[in-house]
Amino acid sequence: MTPHARDAAPRRYLMCPPEHFRVTYSINPWMDPAKPVELPLAVAQWEDLRDRYLALGHTVELLDPRPGLPDMVFAANGATVVDGRVLGARFAYAERTPEAEAHREWFAAHGFPEIHEPEHVNEGEGDFAVTSSWILAGRGFRSTSAAHDEAQEFFGRPVVGLDLVDPRYYHLDTALAVLDDRTDEVMYYPGAFSPGSRAVLARLFPDALIAREPDAAALGLNAVSDGRHVLLPQAAQGLFEPLRARGFDPVGMDLGELLKGGGSVKCCTQELRPRT
Ligand code: ARG
Repeated sequence: MTPHARDAAPRRYLMCPPEHFRVTYSINPWMDPAKPVELPLAVAQWEDLRDRYLALGHTVELLDPRPGLPDMVFAANGATVVDGRVLGARFAYAERTPEAEAHREWFAAHGFPEIHEPEHVNEGEGDFAVTSSWILAGRGFRSTSAAHDEAQEFFGRPVVGLDLVDPRYYHLDTALAVLDDRTDEVMYYPGAFSPGSRAVLARLFPDALIAREPDAAALGLNAVSDGRHVLLPQAAQGLFEPLRARGFDPVGMDLGELLKGGGSVKCCTQELRPRT
């Protein structure tokens, strides 16, 4: 396959500095409160990611971190924005519950006219991935089927529910990444999904880049693409060549301290999709 040139589209992202990032509780298998987090290093790694987005010409908006909400750095979970419309989050665990309101307040203060406070548990872009044709939606650990229905009704886009079965891949964005949201190109790790959901993915995305276990285990699917540059954990080396072969520019990032909370590039990045 000859790689064709890829175009990057400018993006607007929402991020939250890891000022209060800690691992004080464990709500996913990556989190071990006994393992210390090196906060200055976490901050430096997060700043690298933000600076990389800026260098690529993207806009980065900042959400104020709040004390007592150590996971707030994982801004992807706080809402889902499609066509400029905001579907708020409702967290599965009490430890993160107040983050949802912080996000809704940010959107209200930044000129987003339509903000829906959801009835059902959904952890924002942790479990919703937007392609041009569908919204892919994870369930099994956090977001629920009822939340998928709520998202479909709110956005008026077809929502495809996918069952996550491995607790290490507790959010959809730990197991699947959208590479090009204009052409329905994705990469994913089949082992994270039920057999039926794997069959659905194979049918929807016959040309998907299939990740192998070591790259998935390095959270390599927790990636952000602007249609050309794919920012992903540096340790997921096995994905770099296949991405290049498809014409993408992989950009390796080290977010090792954030990984102690169970998140990486995508978890730290919420995309604000404009009205089209
Ligand atoms: N500690 C956080 C949690 O378990 C990590 C969230 C990671 N975010 C993501 N988009 N997968 O909720």
